[in-house]
Amino acid sequence: MPAGEHEFVVVANRLPVDITIEDDGSLSWERSPGGLVTALAPLMQKNGGGWVGWSGKVGFEHEPFDAEGMRLCPVPLSEGEIARYYEGFSNATLWPLYHDVIVPPEFHRAWWNTYTSVNRRFATAAAEAVAPGGTVWVHDYQLQLVPSVLRMLRPDVKIGFFNHIPFPPVEIFTQLPWRHQVVEGLLGADLVGFQRPGDASNFLRAVRRLTDLQVRGPQVTVPGRWSRPDRAVRAQAFPISIDSTAFEELARRPDVLERAKQIRVELGSPDVLLLGVDRLDYTKGIRHRLKAFGELLEDGQLRVPEACMVQVASPSRERVEQYKTLRDEVEVTVGRINGDYGALGRAAVHYLHHSYPATEMAALYRAADVMLVTSLRDGMNLVAKEYVAARSDLGGALVLSEFTGAADELTHALTINPHDIDGTKATVMRAVNMDRKESRRRMRGLRRRVMQHDVQRWADDFLGYLAMSVPPPPDLRPPETPRLGTQPPATDENRPDPTDEQPTDEQPTDEQPTSKETT
Ligand code: G6P
Repeated sequence: MPAGEHEFVVVANRLPVDITIEDDGSLSWERSPGGLVTALAPLMQKNGGGWVGWSGKVGFEHEPFDAEGMRLCPVPLSEGEIARYYEGFSNATLWPLYHDVIVPPEFHRAWWNTYTSVNRRFATAAAEAVAPGGTVWVHDYQLQLVPSVLRMLRPDVKIGFFNHIPFPPVEIFTQLPWRHQVVEGLLGADLVGFQRPGDASNFLRAVRRLTDLQVRGPQVTVPGRWSRPDRAVRAQAFPISIDSTAFEELARRPDVLERAKQIRVELGSPDVLLLGVDRLDYTKGIRHRLKAFGELLEDGQLRVPEACMVQVASPSRERVEQYKTLRDEVEVTVGRINGDYGALGRAAVHYLHHSYPATEMAALYRAADVMLVTSLRDGMNLVAKEYVAARSDLGGALVLSEFTGAADELTHALTINPHDIDGTKATVMRAVNMDRKESRRRMRGLRRRVMQHDVQRWADDFLGYLAMSVPPPPDLRPPETPRLGTQPPATDENRPDPTDEQPTDEQPTDEQPTSKETT
């Protein structure tokens, strides 16, 4: 396969811009919000980087084009592919499977087949874009087969993969009928990054259980094919973050501070403003949060209008059945709470099913007394980090689910088990009544972590490790085109399971030749 021109290529399900097709057929675009593009943009701009991804539009086909200082390579998806690859296999199979089966995952062979063919398309686009000996960074659960296909097409390049969501325990992962192929897909990378050490351990346990490859500490040895040398694949945690300084600066802007004051006035100047900000997703524990808040009103521990809650629930994956059901349930619950405890012009819960610009979010964070993050399972939860970055005034309190990746780092938050409604209520009241000295001390501790470990540091850490991996010589090419899922590995039954003797629940800790602190 002929090499491309980009030293550095990112492959993600979505392009980092929102594209509009104007009436005359021309394109315009706006950079999408989100940390990934912010962290990678300087590197992309410096090295003439490429970004392979879906535009978010049905059937959008376009030649690669330059935007935001990088080359964007749109991958087209048809209506059927969106239904089977994106809504189906990615978001109704993998998403629930990787989030503790909060809702039952669906397993459909037609979805899997489309997932493999779409992954192949992304891998081919990356192979065409990357320069000889270049680096490709593949992102997230939608594209887990890309590393192995890309490795076959372009054995000369370094391949990193980062999973933005949890990686499930092997007992859950093995429900997946295509578990072997997914593990093999990921092992095409040189470095497989996860949010938490526990995710990396889960992945390594799955490798032990499902393959007969040698696993030592964080490293898997994959035997070389076609006379290529053996490869080492490393699995490790790299907790993602936000552009902390930019967010802090935004939240300090006079117009944002003015808007924060205005929000409180518009809400009737409550004594206590509770805030939830999420994609409308069943992993976020929005129903649990509403239940706890509803009971606090019922008990009389909180009263309207002295207290109220704002819940921003941004629309997400609206054609997936479980998301439709969740929306109905949340909206019925909000209606019930407001019916029971609201008054004319004074809602108990202000529910907003919209996405807002970063300025409005920053103002909400500055306005809120207590931020509620109640996820039942969450890879990281960047909302918690945004709240902390916004609170340079050291005001506010963060109630944080222990089932978020962020809880590993944000140890000064008030942690909760969102399934424990009584415990959650007690912690919310503790946050509401916390004295200023303690809340300032906690916020200072939270800010120390978030301001130092920003998304730039995350990207530098990951790419630093990836740079240390040694690719095979560039002149070797595979003798055949990749065929995913056609080599069934040995079954679980005929293979011993070494994990039973050596469970690994800790972050692998071997020494690395780097001066950077690992996150
Ligand atoms: C999570 C995933 C991302 C995804 C985002 C929004 O954060 O890890 O990969 O892009 O949700 O979901 P959507 O389905 O709208 O891309």
